Amino acid sequence: MTVRVRRRWRRLAGILGVVTLVVLTACAKEAPQDTLNDLAGPYAREQLSLFKLVFWVAAVVFVVVEGALVYATIRFRRRDDREVPVQVHGNKTLEIAWTIAPALLLAVLSVPTLGAIFSLAEEPKGSDVLHVDIVGHQWWWEYRYTDPELGFTTANELHIPTGRDVAIKLTAVDVIHSFWIPAIAGKQDVIPGRVNTLKIKADREGTFLGQCAEYCGLSHANMRLRVMAESPEKFAQWVANQKRNATVKPTDPLAAQGAAVFAKTCFQCHNIRGFPTGKGKLGPDLTHFAERTTFAGATFEVTMENLLRWVADSPSMKPGSDMPAAAALGLTQADVNAVVAFLQTLR
Ligand code: CUA
Repeated sequence: MTVRVRRRWRRLAGILGVVTLVVLTACAKEAPQDTLNDLAGPYAREQLSLFKLVFWVAAVVFVVVEGALVYATIRFRRRDDREVPVQVHGNKTLEIAWTIAPALLLAVLSVPTLGAIFSLAEEPKGSDVLHVDIVGHQWWWEYRYTDPELGFTTANELHIPTGRDVAIKLTAVDVIHSFWIPAIAGKQDVIPGRVNTLKIKADREGTFLGQCAEYCGLSHANMRLRVMAESPEKFAQWVANQKRNATVKPTDPLAAQGAAVFAKTCFQCHNIRGFPTGKGKLGPDLTHFAERTTFAGATFEVTMENLLRWVADSPSMKPGSDMPAAAALGLTQADVNAVVAFLQTLR
């Protein structure tokens, strides 16, 4: 082998290695945002079946076209011992054929595509439908349960009952976001000054992971979300608790001290229902905060350690966070400890 040939083989092996690695990532076992497996609702499956149909049609087209190309490249490559093949220019039959064939194919594919678009856009009707308004913020999600018998607001973790349609209205207060919950609904843009709709439905219980899917600034990657699909009984329990006001006079002295710090500072941005001064709208509603499993755009687990770090210096955990560090608010470490103790009583 000459040096040139050896180098060419080495380059080919390198490319093959990279391609293999990329393909192998598809075998990840822990893939909670997989759009192809373990879907948990009819609307996600409707999208998947359309995807599969289009994918396989495209795969056949790819193999036929690329196959012909590769065959022609190899079969008619330049060889010195051979004469050049017959040179042709233009072939009307062939050209008409490859204009009509793709047009026909697209026309056929447009039937199931348009069907799915209209059926997914159709607003769910009936007394059984749950209504939620979702507001995108930099960088967290606000959920307003707007049905008159509910009427509360929460954040980041969306609870829904299994087997019921949820009609969602989406808008944003600052920049464009995108609400993406692959296991049960797919994706919808969340745009300031505009209301988009999305319907979701889960047919089994589970915690499903999603995230903002439109680049929206520094902490776009920290704008995650969770949908907790629960049996109707468990959901009713959750709702009953959400409808209660928070207990704002904790018996624990440290937590009581934290409530006082909250009333002095935090209330300006955060609401806690039942708190006389809690009217803040800028940050997430914290009424039953300790019931949540995650916070700050469903990015961090609700643990003592994370909460202490967060209240002390949230921008260090979430770049660009609107919530200032404790020091900037004039809070001492003792205040931070107290506020965290208070937050943990909000069940
Ligand atoms: Cu919100 Cu990306």
